[in-house]
Amino acid sequence: PHVAVVVVAAGSGTRLGAGGPKAFVGIDDRTILRHCLDGVFAARPAQVVVVAPADRVGEALVDAHEAAGERAPLTSVVAGGATRQASVAAGLAALWPGIRTVLVHDAARALAPGDLVDRVVDAVERTGWGVVPVLPVVDTIKRVEGERITGVVDRAELAAAQTPQGFRRDVLDAAYRVAQAEYTDDSALVAAAGHPLASVEGSPLAFKITTPADLERARSLISRAPA
Ligand code: CTP
Ligand code: MG
Repeated sequence: PHVAVVVVAAGSGTRLGAGGPKAFVGIDDRTILRHCLDGVFAARPAQVVVVAPADRVGEALVDAHEAAGERAPLTSVVAGGATRQASVAAGLAALWPGIRTVLVHDAARALAPGDLVDRVVDAVERTGWGVVPVLPVVDTIKRVEGERITGVVDRAELAAAQTPQGFRRDVLDAAYRVAQAEYTDDSALVAAAGHPLASVEGSPLAFKITTPADLERARSLISRAPA
């Protein structure tokens, strides 16, 4: 009863190019945000905070209440900021005092399943560390300087990071308070503040919808799912 999920949905979706903020684009009859929240609520968190563009707070509330259904945990929607990091900070400011474990999740990872959320929560509670779901890197990775290939990176020691990423609430709050730079994800910000990170197995379904091709992939995955 002490887990919260902050879902950041305040981006503009430039690369998707759908003419409006990405989280409110439909996959089927449900938006990207709604699909993401269906996965989040399946894990029965005590609180969900959606961070939306300031002019989309009402729409986000509709998605949040429909996804919550009978479960009705504490649900709120707050306005985001100019960067993802600012949007996460806005979400953290809305956490209920009793929350001890916080997950931060990209709305754009619309098909991330509830069992992934559970896996991250369990690992945070078991280790106390920051937890990052990862997938193996499938491509061979080269180091390049301009045109020249200068080296090979052993992909066995690499992993691709996803969300939701989970943290002890006190650790995440403290790391955000001292952050002096923009980090590429929450786990990098937490690591910069000196806290250890652990990985758990990610999910192929937790890919981020970034481009029109990603949206097509999400659409075809949904249309093939059993009713
Ligand atoms: N995000 C946010 N606030 C921002 C920027 C991003 O809440 N100022 C959220 C997005 O809504 C998304 C997640 O962070 O769920 C990951 O960001 P990304 O995939 O880059 O989404 P956008 O920034 O919307 O897309 P783009 O970079 O193509 O404009
Ligand atoms: Mg972006």
